[in-house]
Amino acid sequence: MTERRPPLDTTPFTLNLDPARLDAPLSWPDIFGDGRPVELEVGSGKGLFLANAGQARPEHNFLGIEISRKYANKAAERIAKLKLANVKMYSGDARLFLARAVPSASLRAVHVYFPDPWWKARHKKRRVFCEPLVADVERCLEPGGELWVATDVEEYYGVIRELVADHPRFEEQSFPAVTAPEHDHDYLTNFERKYRIEGRPIYRALYRLQRGPA
Ligand SMILES: C[S@@+](CC[C@H](N)C(=O)[O-])C[C@H]1O[C@@H](n2cnc3c(N)ncnc32)[C@H](O)[C@@H]1O
Repeated sequence: MTERRPPLDTTPFTLNLDPARLDAPLSWPDIFGDGRPVELEVGSGKGLFLANAGQARPEHNFLGIEISRKYANKAAERIAKLKLANVKMYSGDARLFLARAVPSASLRAVHVYFPDPWWKARHKKRRVFCEPLVADVERCLEPGGELWVATDVEEYYGVIRELVADHPRFEEQSFPAVTAPEHDHDYLTNFERKYRIEGRPIYRALYRLQRGPA
């Protein structure tokens, strides 16, 4: 007879917020229980980035935001299996979360990897990378904080670069060299894995936020 595994308790790895509470800025030390720097990922999918980064940088906290509850749950399960106390998942719209809940100058980094391209003209307004998002990332990053981006869509990459260029405090940095994977999970994200295996070009950018005018 096969033994039934007890269900994984994802509660400690999930940020459950009453949507009404989104209107007040959150306290990261209250959420993570310590004052470590916080990195936020927009659109975490199945959570490979959070799993890898959470293990590689235990001195930082990570919050993943994923609009699909199904994927947010999958990511939370992955984090729970690894018992990563410095990583949490939130299921909701990252655009609203950044605009309404994240305190100014409180993030060390924001990561946006392979955002949905929404090809049809009438759907483009659903793109997560838009002018208000860039303005909120600028407000939420601490001076010296970083914005990391990757996409396989050249046209969207151009749009992203133009949006960021309108905010002169973002100074482009060279993106670290991409190395050959050492194992099957040694990729930035699940989509990065898929596209690298398919041999598709990937467009990457890294920006550092300069100090604002005094
Ligand atoms: C193409 S997938 C990429 C997932 C992951 N970043 C990766 O590279 O494997 C884009 C993800 O962004 C999520 N997403 C789309 N709009 C979002 C939003 N407004 N807020 C949070 N997540 C969003 C989607 O549900 C989807 O999981």
